[in-house]
Amino acid sequence: MQTLVIEHLTKQFESFVAVDNISLSMTRGEIFGLLGPNGAGKTTTIRILLGLLAPTSGSASVLGYDVVKQSEEIRAHAGYVSQKFALYPDLTVAENFDFYAGVYGVPRANISERRRALLEQVGLTGQERVRVGALAGGSRQRLALACALSHEPEFLFLDEPTAGVDAVARRALWDLVYELAERGTSILVTTHYMDEAENCQRLAFIYQGRIVAEGTPGEIKRDQIHAQVFEMECEPLDVALGILRDAKLFDEVALYGSTLHLIDAHAREKISAAQNLLREKNVRVTRADEIVASLEDAFIARLRSADRATNGEK
Ligand SMILES: Nc1ncnc2c1ncn2[C@@H]1O[C@H](COP(=O)(O)OP(=O)(O)OP(=O)(O)O)[C@@H](O)[C@H]1O
Ligand SMILES: [Mg+2]
Repeated sequence: MQTLVIEHLTKQFESFVAVDNISLSMTRGEIFGLLGPNGAGKTTTIRILLGLLAPTSGSASVLGYDVVKQSEEIRAHAGYVSQKFALYPDLTVAENFDFYAGVYGVPRANISERRRALLEQVGLTGQERVRVGALAGGSRQRLALACALSHEPEFLFLDEPTAGVDAVARRALWDLVYELAERGTSILVTTHYMDEAENCQRLAFIYQGRIVAEGTPGEIKRDQIHAQVFEMECEPLDVALGILRDAKLFDEVALYGSTLHLIDAHAREKISAAQNLLREKNVRVTRADEIVASLEDAFIARLRSADRATNGEK
């Protein structure tokens, strides 16, 4: 059963396109990762799926409910751990839980039993009276998760649930996510980090609002291996950037601080031609070393080559 279907979803803020024609689907009990850098459009996508933002075009449904017409149904059946901290630091663990259970519409008579069971599941039994402001980051995130589970949702949205949490606490949180998925909960989780994304069954890499790659973690990593990247120091940097971009030798020439990254599946074969070209134009190259491609490098290169294929270049 498909628990999430996104078709050609687009969100514009005035003329800025934050989510650009994305399509995705998920099945019951699946852990799906949305991986991408700052500003890629991850949170915007989740907010649309929860009915908190209206899409500009395209459509989506969660658990069979349309995000525009049936957002109340979605919120009744989905849990959301937002990226911004939404717990009340002055309230205790139990008070926070009870508040969120109320917001999610859990009948009063059931709240204390749910609280007992969920705090036990997330390992917070015995801390009911602790003020949330005094909890460690990992415990807070586990409490946020317990709150989002109070109405026994079938779908869970986790927006960077482990940001600012140490490695041990991260592991504990992921163990919980696995448990939930095994019981049939579908989970859409966002992250910046590849190591974390590897916990997902499938991933989509989102960049500037577009899905640039999609697959299992293994497939995605294979892409990374295909990108060769050279880091170059040269003077003047901006002149070199212009020359190399105009030459269209590499899939992508990106500015990284005071260096350039030359990214291409065959960068090794092209580097000496690039250096000769720069010398001819009086650019001084002081260093050009091959470095390990980051996932971001790999996907940016892939995006550029896809762009060029569409535009009929190269
Ligand atoms: N209400 C808004 N009005 C205008 N622009 C917005 C609005 N909300 C988000 N944006 C812009 O849309 C882009 C995508 O933002 P979004 O928060 O979805 O990114 P993200 O992938 O969640 O990033 P991060 O990893 O930093 O959380 C950003 O450039 C952001 O500035
Ligand atoms: Mg975000």
